[in-house]
Amino acid sequence: MEFISEKLLDYCISHSSKESEILRELNRQTHIRTLNPRMISGKHQGRFLSMISKILRPKKVLEIGTFTGYSTLCLAEGLEKQGTIDTIDNNFELKKIQNYFFNLSKLQNQIRQFTCDAIEILPKLKGKYDLIFLDADKKNYLNYLKFIIPLLRKNGVLISDNVLWSGKVIEADNNEDLETQVLKKFNQRLSNNKNMETVLLPIRDGISLSFKV
Ligand SMILES: C[S@@+](CC[C@H](N)C(=O)[O-])C[C@H]1O[C@@H](n2cnc3c(N)ncnc32)[C@H](O)[C@@H]1O
Repeated sequence: MEFISEKLLDYCISHSSKESEILRELNRQTHIRTLNPRMISGKHQGRFLSMISKILRPKKVLEIGTFTGYSTLCLAEGLEKQGTIDTIDNNFELKKIQNYFFNLSKLQNQIRQFTCDAIEILPKLKGKYDLIFLDADKKNYLNYLKFIIPLLRKNGVLISDNVLWSGKVIEADNNEDLETQVLKKFNQRLSNNKNMETVLLPIRDGISLSFKV
């Protein structure tokens, strides 16, 4: 869901930097070849991810929720020369499209793909990350947060996607809607965490930018 009019969003996109040809084709292929192409970050959010990464110049990035690899390649644009991205997705059917575009981008040696459940691999990851992008199943956001905060280095940045969940986070509680319930608690926990400074932005479906102090 977008929180601004289509016309205004088009204006924002047309006055932002352009995505690369590889990303444009990946976006197109995602729409042709996947069942739920709306999950892709897309042009505008992709430029935002790239911009944050370019400002931070991370050595180590962690992404939870690769999908077809669009956001992975956007985040990779800011990597330090020897920098790496660990990216996790439990859908093995996406590997073919991911691999094709990671190879095309010539960044394949800097991208480590984990094709498994994020809850299984997160406790096994070692070292500290400079930048983490959380964009997997919403019902597990609180579980992910427990692992993510210790994995983030001091002064590191966490970007969490879909935190407005089509605006449902301001609606009355509905016990049957687990994802919204979890996202409400996630936003509360993040904004109350004394070790994290957070700004929640109405970009696309809502993005939280959190800085570890
Ligand atoms: C919203 S999509 C990610 C979009 C991607 N970051 C982008 O911007 O193009 C969410 C992805 O999380 C993956 N996913 C869902 N549950 C997962 C889990 N428990 N562990 C790992 N990946 C999961 C799905 O297969 C899906 O590809």
